[in-house]
Amino acid sequence: MRVFVTGASGHIASAVIPELVAHGHQVVGLARSDASAGAVAKLGAEPRTGDLDDLDGLRAAAGEADGVIHLAFKHDAMFAGNPQDAVQADLDATKAFGEALAGTDKPLVTTSGTLMLAMAGITGRPGTEDDQSEGGPRVEAANYTTGLAQQGVRSSVIRLAPMVHSDLDHHGFTSALIGFARDNGIAAYTGDGTNRWPAANTYDIGVLYRLALEKAPAGSTLHGVGDTGIPRRVIAETIAGKLGVETKSISDDEAPQFLGFLAGFAGLDNPTSNDKTRELLGWEPTHPGWVEDVQTGHYFA
Ligand SMILES: NC(=O)c1ccc[n+]([C@@H]2O[C@H](COP(=O)([O-])OP(=O)(O)OC[C@H]3O[C@@H](n4cnc5c(N)ncnc54)[C@H](OP(=O)(O)O)[C@@H]3O)[C@@H](O)[C@H]2O)c1
Repeated sequence: MRVFVTGASGHIASAVIPELVAHGHQVVGLARSDASAGAVAKLGAEPRTGDLDDLDGLRAAAGEADGVIHLAFKHDAMFAGNPQDAVQADLDATKAFGEALAGTDKPLVTTSGTLMLAMAGITGRPGTEDDQSEGGPRVEAANYTTGLAQQGVRSSVIRLAPMVHSDLDHHGFTSALIGFARDNGIAAYTGDGTNRWPAANTYDIGVLYRLALEKAPAGSTLHGVGDTGIPRRVIAETIAGKLGVETKSISDDEAPQFLGFLAGFAGLDNPTSNDKTRELLGWEPTHPGWVEDVQTGHYFA
């Protein structure tokens, strides 16, 4: 397939694109700068100059492709304190792809996060692919994606675990937690630290996106999850052990001081099942889980 990939210069794409290329797909990757174009070309894809805000450009690129994988997200807007801009741009881009692909039965794979389940109150038990929510950040784009099944698009949305980790990850939640622990001299968790965060290895996620592109049934919700849920205290202890710092239970009020932009997620309990995704696609995560991967030390080099 000729596949158009957005976010082609990002972390997740650094596993997705080589996986696609290795399986005979031709990849065209969106790039908004020369540096991004260089990174995209290095992965084996053809860079296509453009921006997420150029909706006509996105529609044209999708129209010329046999399938689309949408990974771009305006994390810079999130960090600048404009999360709504990032969420709206993601929705607008998803709609542009829906318009371009309607009636073609071509695949569109978009991206969301498992944390949306916890934010929707699905907590205390593993969230499943069948759990849906009506609203919340990024949920509208996810629901729009699955709804495209009614419009002749073989659409699927992948809810990624908040900690996608590997030696390809340089700025995700894991790196951020390590950075905060290093800066503060303390690896912090809120409360008793029994709340759980799921995780997934980037290399397994690369395979998942390829399988979704190739064979996910229209309207699928898939879970990009390897570890179902790691207690926050175990996460803190693993990082503390590698850095040689103490762990500390903190209050919610102290979370911004010790966990920065992660404070709002710190107390969420987000165990997440991948049973249906594995069954539907024959996907099996085979790469190291979060604790084993962090123990290898590449995050601390
Ligand atoms: N990594 C994780 O642990 C994780 C967890 C849950 C969900 N997700 C989601 O998975 C998706 C991919 O994440 P990632 O970790 O690969 O992100 P990333 O490494 O931050 O990469 C973001 C990508 O989006 C591109 N982008 C941003 N703004 C753009 C714009 N205005 N026009 C064109 N391209 C733009 C970036 O291009 P430049 O290189 O030019 O900046 C980059 O290629 C996102 O939706 C993210 O929220 C990731």
